[in-house]
Amino acid sequence: MPKLRPTTRKLVLLGTIGGIILIAGYFKVFLHSDLRQPIQYNHKIHIESAGMTCVDCHESVLVSASATIPRLEICTSCHSGEPISDSPEEPKLLKFVADGNEIPWQRVYSVPDHVYFSHQRHVTDGRIECATCHGNIPDFTQPVTSTFMPVMMESCMDCHRLNGVTNDCLACHR
Ligand code: HEC
Ligand code: HEC
Ligand code: HEC
Ligand code: HEC
Ligand code: HEC
Repeated sequence: MPKLRPTTRKLVLLGTIGGIILIAGYFKVFLHSDLRQPIQYNHKIHIESAGMTCVDCHESVLVSASATIPRLEICTSCHSGEPISDSPEEPKLLKFVADGNEIPWQRVYSVPDHVYFSHQRHVTDGRIECATCHGNIPDFTQPVTSTFMPVMMESCMDCHRLNGVTNDCLACHR
């Protein structure tokens, strides 16, 4: 490859990133056109009746970049053997438990590979509530199927601008 000036190289890099994101965008629209979760998971019942907190299931949200979707193992501490509710959704869960298969939850929020987002940075260091980006999850009686804060460059940048946080391209695109 010929030697390019640093600014030219940066433009080529950003152009490539743009192309990848445009392609990824089409797939995202396609995948999310009729998103259905394998179980009609109910956040409200677990927070109100079972007294759980976000970190009980989204274990690494305070200490690492990703929040994580809970593994089946987290459910089996309360759900295994006999049902503990009258809900028709629980037998579906118990079938996954009996077969030892992970539940194929569909991801709703995600940034492309070349964008860096860290939960620890926002929640622990920045002290931003989950609800600011995800809406009032403790009231959700249905699974999450659409985004509250759209995962778009503008949403990230608007908040950074308001809070005096950097909007340098390479802070997020690294
Ligand atoms: C700390 C105990 C606990 C853990 C861990 C737990 N649950 Fe539950 N779950 C409950 C309780 C309590 C109920 C409500 C029983 C009732 O009052 O009807 C419930 C109810 C349910 C129901 C039926 C209620 C409805 O509205 O459909 C489903 C489905 C369910 N849980 C899925 C899960 C999944 C999936 C996981 C793992 C990600 C999980 N639970 C982890 C305690 C737990
Ligand atoms: C500043 C906005 C923001 C805040 C605050 C925030 N999130 Fe997120 N969340 C995101 C973004 C953006 C993604 C997609 C991240 C990715 O693809 O790596 C995401 C993804 C997730 C996911 C999907 C799994 C994963 O690991 O990516 C879960 C679960 C989640 N967040 C839970 C939480 C919880 C719980 C809190 C509060 C303790 C929280 N989030 C706070 C923006 C936020
Ligand atoms: C008992 C376990 C449990 C607890 C407690 C829990 N969640 Fe979840 N969460 C799940 C499961 C299972 C899913 C996947 C199903 C769905 O999307 O509803 C999920 C999905 C999510 C998602 C969507 C992730 C994505 O991109 O697909 C967000 C955001 C989220 N939870 C935030 C929260 C917040 C905020 C709290 C605390 C107020 C919380 N959760 C408490 C189990 C839990
Ligand atoms: C609701 C406000 C808000 C939103 C939305 C938000 N951020 Fe942030 N972001 C912050 C704050 C505040 C900090 C500084 C946290 C701290 O104190 O360290 C930060 C810090 C960062 C940093 C570290 C910057 C540095 O100094 O190097 C990155 C990278 C970042 N955010 C990426 C993102 C991305 C990507 C998105 C969108 C998917 C996003 N943020 C959405 C408020 C937000
Ligand atoms: C605060 C985080 C953040 C900063 C700063 C940022 N971006 Fe982005 N950028 C994103 C996110 C998140 C996406 C993915 C958006 C999507 O999928 O809709 C993105 C997407 C893009 C795309 C794909 C086209 C598009 O709009 O979807 C290009 C090109 C791009 N960014 C270039 C840049 C340039 C140039 C800068 C500096 C001026 C920059 N970005 C600064 C977060 C950021």
